[in-house]
Amino acid sequence: MAEPYRIRPATAEDVGFLADVSLATAQGRLPADFDEVEWRAGFSDWTIETLAMTSVIELSDERVGRLRIRRTPESIELCGIQLLPEMQNRGIGTAVIRGLQAEAATTGVPLDLGVEKDNPNARRLYDRLGFAKIGESDTEHKLRWLDQKGTAVNDDLWGADTARRYDTPGVGMFAPEVLGPTVDRLAALAGEGRALEFAIGTGRVGVPLSERVSVTGIELSTAMIDQLRTKVDEETIPVVIGDMATTQVSGEFTLVYLVFNTISNLLTQAEQVECFRNAARHLTPGGHFVIELWVPELRRLPPGLPATVGVADPGYILLDTYDVLNQHVVSHHFHFDEDGGTEAHLARTPHRYIWPAELDLMAQLAGFTLESRHADWSGAQFTANSPSHISTYRLNP
Ligand SMILES: C[S@@+](CC[C@H](N)C(=O)[O-])C[C@H]1O[C@@H](n2cnc3c(N)ncnc32)[C@H](O)[C@@H]1O
Repeated sequence: MAEPYRIRPATAEDVGFLADVSLATAQGRLPADFDEVEWRAGFSDWTIETLAMTSVIELSDERVGRLRIRRTPESIELCGIQLLPEMQNRGIGTAVIRGLQAEAATTGVPLDLGVEKDNPNARRLYDRLGFAKIGESDTEHKLRWLDQKGTAVNDDLWGADTARRYDTPGVGMFAPEVLGPTVDRLAALAGEGRALEFAIGTGRVGVPLSERVSVTGIELSTAMIDQLRTKVDEETIPVVIGDMATTQVSGEFTLVYLVFNTISNLLTQAEQVECFRNAARHLTPGGHFVIELWVPELRRLPPGLPATVGVADPGYILLDTYDVLNQHVVSHHFHFDEDGGTEAHLARTPHRYIWPAELDLMAQLAGFTLESRHADWSGAQFTANSPSHISTYRLNP
């Protein structure tokens, strides 16, 4: 068990000590031409500027470590935790992080951190404490403690059970007549460049596309990624765990694509706009963002009733309930036993539906122009009666 420690706000008098801790923990990783005097001057100025987010860790009234945390309504970001070498491996760091996890669990705010790519020991510690990679910069892996949104998505909607039953090889969305034109069109748009799939799932599209162009994925559900990994390894299709609206992966892409209605899994307009912005962040100028999405079916709503029946087969009933004010639809999937029993298994999927015109405006906000809209992947004309569309946006140069 960790010895009792105390965390207190840092003051200007602590700056020298804070520099000592930083230096002590960086030994062995400092560049050959490191200038300590110059570094200490810069460190001091920067620490004073950011004193409000800096704390000192104390053990028996002795200063033993440095802690930096940025708290915003969106996240608790652990920007750094360093202990004097003789204070390491005594459970203090783990206890501090457990405390932050408790804070994150209570407030429902994600706990994020960055770990330098050349610090594998720290990465192993965070892995053990339940952090998962959600993105990266040139120098750092971005990690998130997955007891918030990740778990919710994993367990409730895209958990192990759904992931196991997701693939239907050769039929439905996996039929060659669906997948063939999808992959042809995406490969043509990627050209000589790389493709990034938002919400890659089990790799229904990503896996066959990776035989033609380089594919990377972003995906929130680890259960879906586990299924993908039964087909291809990390080298063939690297996948970063994270939210497609915010997660960044390294490198540039000529194509970002988001298919099978999945933009509607983001439940607010703000998140959907962010998703477009995130696509733009990854694209080279002139690159394409392709979205496959259904057209809202509000014309099917009977007057005065908030629901439609989409399918009424003996073993399966699909009921869509609408909240028109918030532009939400929840699909209720009732699966009955084949022997005609009275019990049903119910799964519910919430969506925020988007009209094509609203989608185009989101694109415009993120710097895109609509290049084409078709009714299917083979290029059929999109009409007033088309149930869904393939919209291809081009990033303005
Ligand atoms: C309908 S599946 C589509 C999977 C795959 N793109 C395909 O075409 O088969 C939806 C996927 O979106 C993922 N997902 C949902 N919300 C997400 C988010 N905010 N960020 C990343 N992935 C998300 C789910 O975990 C699931 O794997």
